[in-house]
Amino acid sequence: MPEIIRFGVSLDTQLLEKFDALNSEKGYKNRSEAIRDLIRNELVEQEWTGDENGETVGVFSLVYDHHRNEISQELNHIQHESLELIVSTTHVHVDFHNCLEVIILRGSSRKIREVTNRLGSTRGVKHGKLIMTSTGSGLK
Ligand code: NI
Repeated sequence: MPEIIRFGVSLDTQLLEKFDALNSEKGYKNRSEAIRDLIRNELVEQEWTGDENGETVGVFSLVYDHHRNEISQELNHIQHESLELIVSTTHVHVDFHNCLEVIILRGSSRKIREVTNRLGSTRGVKHGKLIMTSTGSGLK
């Protein structure tokens, strides 16, 4: 069990009030919990941005109009070229025009970024967003 250390943080009152309001909205019982999560998030992000070849997992969502020329075939084609990275794809027909696809990927952050950049920049994609995460191994 690692030793717990207390430390003081200096903040202006306005910033602290906003932080407290956000934390209560998110359901944190105290500031320590909230700060611990902030630090963990930062370290997890550093873990996958710091090592481009380390294994990581990502969730990519994209919205597109399937009436656009060949877009479905193009997105499908790109995914078939990256079989080793793609764990799962879920397709939702949002409305008459729009489709939502949620793709779960596993592999190096460099390769995940490459394929999701290709998908996101495909003509007709309205919005693409990648969330990268890691197991946080090395963090408590
Ligand atoms: Ni659809």
